[in-house]
Amino acid sequence: MSQQAMPAPEHRLSAVRGRLLWLRHDPFLDDPGTALAEEEDGLILMAGGKIQDVGSHAALVSRLPPGTPVDHHSGKLIVPGFIDLHVHYSQVGIIGAAGHRLLDWLGQTTFPAEMAFVDPAHARAVAAFFCDQLIRHGTTTALVFTTVHPHATDALFEAAMARSMRMVAGKVMMDRNAPASLLDTARMAHDDSLALIDRWDGMGRLHYAITPRFAPTSTPEQLEAAGALRKRFPHLHVHTHLAETLDETAWVRSLFPDRACYLDVYDHYGLVGPRSVFAHGIHLDEGEFRRLFESGAAVAHCPTSNLFLGSGIFRLAAARARNRPVQVGLGTDVGAGTSLSMLATAGEAYKVAQLAGHLLSPAEALYLATLGPARALGLDDRIGRLAPGHDADFVVLNPAATPLLAMRCQQAGSSADLLSALFTLGDDRAIAATYVAGSRMAPS
Ligand code: GUN
Ligand code: ZN
Repeated sequence: MSQQAMPAPEHRLSAVRGRLLWLRHDPFLDDPGTALAEEEDGLILMAGGKIQDVGSHAALVSRLPPGTPVDHHSGKLIVPGFIDLHVHYSQVGIIGAAGHRLLDWLGQTTFPAEMAFVDPAHARAVAAFFCDQLIRHGTTTALVFTTVHPHATDALFEAAMARSMRMVAGKVMMDRNAPASLLDTARMAHDDSLALIDRWDGMGRLHYAITPRFAPTSTPEQLEAAGALRKRFPHLHVHTHLAETLDETAWVRSLFPDRACYLDVYDHYGLVGPRSVFAHGIHLDEGEFRRLFESGAAVAHCPTSNLFLGSGIFRLAAARARNRPVQVGLGTDVGAGTSLSMLATAGEAYKVAQLAGHLLSPAEALYLATLGPARALGLDDRIGRLAPGHDADFVVLNPAATPLLAMRCQQAGSSADLLSALFTLGDDRAIAATYVAGSRMAPS
């Protein structure tokens, strides 16, 4: 096997001290007043890449044997590592390529960029850059689209493994309505995915996602092959796009006239269930929301992408209605999305929610960037909170990263207000440090 060996996590006890903030529960559904958990002067104890304990410094300091290394982050805020629920690593080179709506953008900007991944060296270079950028932006786990080329998925998993990151990804399946050089077939997609599952799924902190691009670029035969993989490996994730624009939705109706709605296309092939993540979900009806909820599937809300491509306004409050709350997390959706920062993405989610008539609270925004996507991925027993037994993946935020942030954050009357300021003004400059499996990662 050509992959690099996974770096061994640090087995000795170490600790991090600072102001801790995370979610106790879902602030959309349960008491929003008690959702934010906070330790003003907190300590995280960790060993072997896992959190051993979390609490106040005063309560835990006596547990540190003499000589235990402690990183001090006074004046900073420590939150769980961000989880990007939808991003394309092959599209980092086309961020901000203006001038199109979705379907033209795919044909004229995106597909040409993805063709370059036929070169394994290009794929490896971009994958390494992408993983370093995630860390720089405070993202410790992502659900990632690669390209149709199997070696592009190898490249991403190799880069994630070299950094000990928890990562979920899969080869794009696409056998129609795209340039010939980007097409596989139903059989190739099945067999290549199977080989990648064998090679990567469950290795270290890596998970495989069955990844048909979206209904218009897969034949019924290919969706059937995707469904067969899901049936054979029910623990796998499914990752695709759904109801992003009205043109796309009309196209799906004409391609699959026998299906009741867009979601029903995926449902028909057994692709809707727990750990299925559908990007966008802007143009969904009540029946589709209900089916997503009942099946345990999730939506990745990608506000910067939806604004950039003019795709529409996601109805967050409708998706999360208390009588049938669909699981939702935030995705950057780079390259249609305009930032890899989950802080900036949460800031844009606030504005999009305003347009849809919902006032997104700071606790809700933090939920959408941490615990929400962890639950969407079925990984909330391992990531998304600061809790004993969880992966030691967290981010240190600097409220004084820029003069404007410093000025604004000095006025912040509460931790919720501090978060709000960081979501509005923050980006990678506000990430003082990122810890991945207990190791402080060098900035790059
Ligand atoms: N729908 C199908 N492919 C894509 C893609 O690459 N980006 C976005 N935003 N939507 C898609
Ligand atoms: Zn996307």
